Amino acid sequence: MRMRIILVGYGVVGKGVTAILARRCAEKVKDYGFNPKIVAIADIDGAVINSRGLNPEKLESIRQRGYPISADPEFGQPGIPALEVIQSVEAEVVVEVTPVNIKTAEPALSHITTAFKTGKHVVTTNKGPLALAMPALTELAEYNNVFLRFSGTVGGGTPMLEFAKRCLAGDKILAIKGILNGTTNYILTEMSQNRVTFQEALANAQKLGYAEREPSMDIDGFDTACKVVILANWIMNKKITLKDVDRTGIRDVALEMLDEAAKRGNTIKLIGSIDGDKPSVKPTEIGTTNPLCVSGVLNAITYSTEYAADQTLIGRGAGGMETASAVLRDLLDIRHKLANRLLNNNSES
Ligand SMILES: NC(=O)c1ccc[n+]([C@@H]2O[C@H](COP(=O)([O-])OP(=O)(O)OC[C@H]3O[C@@H](n4cnc5c(N)ncnc54)[C@H](OP(=O)(O)O)[C@@H]3O)[C@@H](O)[C@H]2O)c1
Repeated sequence: MRMRIILVGYGVVGKGVTAILARRCAEKVKDYGFNPKIVAIADIDGAVINSRGLNPEKLESIRQRGYPISADPEFGQPGIPALEVIQSVEAEVVVEVTPVNIKTAEPALSHITTAFKTGKHVVTTNKGPLALAMPALTELAEYNNVFLRFSGTVGGGTPMLEFAKRCLAGDKILAIKGILNGTTNYILTEMSQNRVTFQEALANAQKLGYAEREPSMDIDGFDTACKVVILANWIMNKKITLKDVDRTGIRDVALEMLDEAAKRGNTIKLIGSIDGDKPSVKPTEIGTTNPLCVSGVLNAITYSTEYAADQTLIGRGAGGMETASAVLRDLLDIRHKLANRLLNNNSES
């Protein structure tokens, strides 16, 4: 089955996507009849477009010489906006991996809605549009008869969304609790295990590249809150956006609070939870023997279910290749859904 892809954003995840498709493609063609081809890559400087498929190695060598990919002499189109590429290039899927923006969700929101309106499915790892407009976006996708997939937005490569959606499909999920942000988990782990202050732990995280120079998205709990929105809508059929989440970050967690928790055999973690009516993100005391209590940059999620009790999944929550593997998972899911659609149409006709 033909799958032509427009990749929008060629940073850490975008490059991971081209690398993983190049490495795994032969295997996937054999296993699933899945034969994707990247026909355009757009970033902030312009695009490269070739309807017969692009060669990522050649593009990488252009980048390594210090030029944008749109400088490709054969297929480069410097200055062309990503929106125009999405509108004009023939493709089945847009993979949207531009930077997150939780104020306006742009440019990703326009990229995604334009893809839908031109009949293209979307895979994204960008939390912004989902955090601000997930109910409207899922409706628009349905209206245009296209699929929207976003498994890399929660848990990076760890299939937190699919595990709940597919593996627990026969059960009822009553509550969700998760450590969904590696940066804050690293900071809290450093504080409790090495007795450093919040400021020292944050500085260490920044030195190691775990925290941004402007760390508010992580430490004030916005990143976790975005993930709570996605989980609540996708897994628990809510219709919420970021403003519906009660959010407290970790700036005010002091060493003394961790010491007090330790006396009770507990520690403090930034927990995103959907349990009852109001979804929340807040520093929460949990037992150190609780399976959810992971250390360092790890993420973990516990689904409390009606029949199968608690199910906990642990994994790396970010990383270019990890997240690219989630994009490939989503592309395969879309391919599977399209094949089923074709089968149903044929049996009806
Ligand atoms: N990295 C991870 O581990 C990870 C994990 C899960 C989810 N995510 C999410 O995945 C998305 C991509 O992350 P990343 O780490 O790959 O980010 P990144 O390295 O900053 O790459 C973003 C890319 O988008 C391009 N871009 C910016 N504005 C654009 C525009 N208006 N039109 C077209 N392209 C534009 C950038 O171009 P320039 O470089 O020229 O500005 C860059 O190529 C983000 O939303 C992030 O939150 C990342």
